[in-house]
Amino acid sequence: MGALIFHPAAIFGALVVAISSIGFFPSVVIAYPGPITRHYTFDVRLQNVTRLCHTKAIVTVNGSFPGPPIYAREGDRLVIKVINNVKNNVSLHWHGIRQVQSQWADGPAYITQCPIQRGQSYVYNFTLNGQRGTFFWHAHITWLRATLYGPLIILPKHNVPYPFAKPYKEIPIMFGEWWNSDSEAVINQALQNGGGPNVSDAYTLNGFPGPLYNCSQKQNESLKLKVKAGKTYMLRLINAALNDELFFSIANHSVTVVEADALYVKPFKTNIVVIAPGQTTNILLKTKPHPPHSRFLMAARPYFTGTGTFDNTTTAGILEYYTTTTTTTSKDHNAPVIRPTLPPINDTAYVANFTSKFRSLANEKFPITVPQTVDRSFFFTVGLGTNPCPKNQTCQGPNGTKFAASMNNVSFVLPNTSMLQSYFFKKSNGVFTTDFPTSPLIKFNYTGTPPNNTMVMDGTKVAVLPFNASVEVVLQDTSILGAESHPLHLHGYNFFVVGQGFGNFDPKKDPAKYNLVDPQERNTVGVPSGGWVAIRFFADNPGVWFMHCHFEVHLSWGLKMAWIVEDGKLPNQRLPPPPADLPKC
Ligand code: C2O
Repeated sequence: MGALIFHPAAIFGALVVAISSIGFFPSVVIAYPGPITRHYTFDVRLQNVTRLCHTKAIVTVNGSFPGPPIYAREGDRLVIKVINNVKNNVSLHWHGIRQVQSQWADGPAYITQCPIQRGQSYVYNFTLNGQRGTFFWHAHITWLRATLYGPLIILPKHNVPYPFAKPYKEIPIMFGEWWNSDSEAVINQALQNGGGPNVSDAYTLNGFPGPLYNCSQKQNESLKLKVKAGKTYMLRLINAALNDELFFSIANHSVTVVEADALYVKPFKTNIVVIAPGQTTNILLKTKPHPPHSRFLMAARPYFTGTGTFDNTTTAGILEYYTTTTTTTSKDHNAPVIRPTLPPINDTAYVANFTSKFRSLANEKFPITVPQTVDRSFFFTVGLGTNPCPKNQTCQGPNGTKFAASMNNVSFVLPNTSMLQSYFFKKSNGVFTTDFPTSPLIKFNYTGTPPNNTMVMDGTKVAVLPFNASVEVVLQDTSILGAESHPLHLHGYNFFVVGQGFGNFDPKKDPAKYNLVDPQERNTVGVPSGGWVAIRFFADNPGVWFMHCHFEVHLSWGLKMAWIVEDGKLPNQRLPPPPADLPKC
């Protein structure tokens, strides 16, 4: 069962062939079906899985790891019934889906819904309007997404081509992170003692650690990609790892980036892809014209600039050519395996250069609307901090404190009920307050010597946006407890990355350098380590929308906040009432 390759073609079955009799001679007309509703049942249950010679019972969907892929077309409706048969509370998120008029299906626990309790179910029901590309779904509560994740792939409408030649085959490759021990216990223990959580034991490609790990050399723990010579394959890369940005490279092959976060980009070539948790990247892999007599490793390892420990291992899969143009399997098992070269672990210069290459297509077929002026502007610091150690306890965080993380020094505390629900029913008193600071209350040299006091303020605060406001947020990394890159993810929206740089953002000089013509559009952006990034969007989707670091450990520590986007005037600009089966807390 080595390779895990999905075949979209097999899922989109027969074309409707209709006989019409226009004119004298009957003619055959191929009618493509319009949007359809696709039903899925996701049974959340335990399954024993073995990796690195360790067997453990993990939380899965339908017993599969990684979880089952969802394939659909733009315009389709997805109706996914999630039944919880484990003791953990569960909620699922459809990462990157805007959820216009289906806000109750977004999924983050205690933000848009109460979690689904054991024995309960909830139907996620939403339409895939105006979006196509590579997405993924994952659990959005505690650290369950370590094992609860899968691809969500939206193909263009029938007869709508990609803005590049149709690839011969499309293959999702999901990066993941594996702990030999129970990952829920790992984070619970860390939150208890205030220290950093134990790092993972392996990274994975479609669930497989690969040949560079002891105990994983067997073929059934490697992703194998068998390709034909002279073809173009599209790899849909999805970073579902919890805490690590990754470098990815295929030995002796360069690739062309064509899409990021389910939005087409101006194609560019690269040998090494950088991908943060929460990001997706489509790359075209043109295979060699003739089958070479070697095999090639596809490898990923972390990009890391923090000061703590991290999983410094390398996951790999094997790219192998069919020896002939037929599908005869290569018998060339002794062919040498060539390894790719990956940048140094902390190669921030490579990352900055790579991310600067992304540009929206911004053409007639794929126009963009970048906010040229700003109605509401925000400046958020993002970074680590500390919380005091409770009395009668010893803590393992910095100087005997507990690790925390914050935006504008507010470490976000999840309420014990759904924020969207309390907002909709106007019962938010005691659940959250609307005073999230628009800029840091205490200013300091954010990327210079950190202040002596690193304590954060705990709270459940939101920032309120009027409907359709044009919004700018500058996200500024801090050097408190070490500068680090933070992949910031916004729910309910895509945003434009109009500027980025190192050091402190300069409101006088930096806006002049913004790209307001063809900036990349995405849903997750890496705040540069020791730098800043400026994003813009129109607040045209009412609701309560989570924004957070997609490093799960920072999410646990409070690097998160929520926006409330108010209703507009028209009926389709208002938050609809909740579905009847919305879980209760
Ligand atoms: Cu992929 Cu709020 O997350």
